[in-house]
Amino acid sequence: MITTVSTTPYTDQKMGTAGLRKKSKIAMQPNYVENFMQSIFNAIGRLDDKTFLVGGDGRFYNDIAIQKIIKMAAANGVKKLVIGQNGFVSTPAGSNIILKNKLDGGFVLSASHNPGGENGDFGIKYSNQTGGQVPASVTDKIYANTLSIREYKIYDAPDIDLSHLGTQHLGTMEIEVIDPVVDYVEMVEHIFDFNAIKALFAKGFTMRFDAMNAVTGPYAIRIFEEILGAPKGSVVHAKPLPDFGGLHPDPNLVYAKELVDLMFSDSAPDFGGANDGDGDRNMILGKKFFVTPSDSLAILTDNYQYIPAYKNGIFGVAKSAATSTAVGRVAKAHNIGYYEVPTGWKYFVNLMDSQRITFCGEESFGTGSAHIREKDGIWAILFWLNIIAATGKSVEQITREHWQKYGRSYYMRFDFEGLDTAVADKLMSDLEAKLPSLNNQEFNGYKVSEAAPFVYNDPVDNSSTKNGLIVKFADGSRIVYRLSGTGSSGATLRVYLEKYEQNKLAEEPLDMLKPILAIAMEIAEITPRTGKQHADVIT
Ligand code: G1P
Ligand code: ZN
Repeated sequence: MITTVSTTPYTDQKMGTAGLRKKSKIAMQPNYVENFMQSIFNAIGRLDDKTFLVGGDGRFYNDIAIQKIIKMAAANGVKKLVIGQNGFVSTPAGSNIILKNKLDGGFVLSASHNPGGENGDFGIKYSNQTGGQVPASVTDKIYANTLSIREYKIYDAPDIDLSHLGTQHLGTMEIEVIDPVVDYVEMVEHIFDFNAIKALFAKGFTMRFDAMNAVTGPYAIRIFEEILGAPKGSVVHAKPLPDFGGLHPDPNLVYAKELVDLMFSDSAPDFGGANDGDGDRNMILGKKFFVTPSDSLAILTDNYQYIPAYKNGIFGVAKSAATSTAVGRVAKAHNIGYYEVPTGWKYFVNLMDSQRITFCGEESFGTGSAHIREKDGIWAILFWLNIIAATGKSVEQITREHWQKYGRSYYMRFDFEGLDTAVADKLMSDLEAKLPSLNNQEFNGYKVSEAAPFVYNDPVDNSSTKNGLIVKFADGSRIVYRLSGTGSSGATLRVYLEKYEQNKLAEEPLDMLKPILAIAMEIAEITPRTGKQHADVIT
């Protein structure tokens, strides 16, 4: 029943910011998924005492890949798989399932916020027993395996039915199909004041949650409509579809257009939120009002006392270097630890495990806490609803009062997409070489106070990671440059801009950032090198 299949290596199976992410058509090549999974199993070693979670965001090819994983796990002697019904598990729910049930790790099949379908993207994220994605030392080992792999093992059996809850076997391996929503609901019920949020909806508070035809639909229906009492129809695009119904499931002002249009219309509900494909990203909107993820992290941190699970105090807070410095001011005011890490959620995990931080977030619509080891989209929305319920204030009021208290970091990200990899790499290395010469130079009245690569020295495992280049100005403004690590082809240059203001609190971000944008374009020679006059995506 177990066959050993000979294979030849693929050379492109190195994991990026968040696991292996490829065009679906690449992942569909013969033995592609098999090679990658066998390399993981080889790297783990002993499997007969191991239990893993398997699930995903329901995107195209997940069903096929999940069956391959089941049959390979059985053939490799894995003890047990816990699988979300119909193959669905959101990234945050997966992290919780691993932690709560003390599993040895898991595989969440998702390319996160990237589009799905045959012409979209496919991905596999591998987490260990921490509930978080494995560190570089492990991904390096797996990558080395993918380069030398010669054979894989697979069970020759019909597909396993994942539509019914319960236990079955493949060979000696146990397969337990679970409802992927149950543990997650129990978790958030223990964090937030559900009674206060129920009372809010009972008073007529309205919301729209856009699941973008991806995995959070079933979670959101259960939590917002069935448990908390939001009106039926508050959750839209709730059925996970293999191609996300053509939506680009990235909750930002560009891709969550339908929600944004509604929230900026006269018929806007009180609150708007969206999640990405696998449910770890979130966007927060009020009536005709958008909260940047950087501000959201700062506001949640400042208001932790309203949340039952945090009211007795929090450890510190962390953000990715590219994220605005807003939360740093909150950390200072509350006298808690404050950390800046490279982009990618895995860098927060050591800080959580060592109780250095409770909250963390990234500018890329990711916010979370130490309740799990991934960012958590629905958690962030519940956090906001809980603050609104406790204070009786609107999203806009809460945010404006925050700016009054701390000042405002105007912040935007500019993405230059589809670049030739060699051109992008050269732009970055030339820019890095030039950084020392920028110190103390003045550009249009902005004086450079420090220009250097961002280097993170992990206080827990002492590893050192370089990620991006930062140019700081004397007035506190910043430019951060880095290349995306989640793309599935070509290169994307991300340019993050920030300007801090204590008095001018109600300006248009783009107006405030235009001078710095011009400087950023000039310093990195973006137009001459890439041919691009403007960014492709601005968030
Ligand atoms: C992007 C975001 C990053 C996030 C990651 C996974 O990575 O910038 O903050 O952790 O997606 O959601 P990037 O493409 O920039 O490497
Ligand atoms: Zn995601």
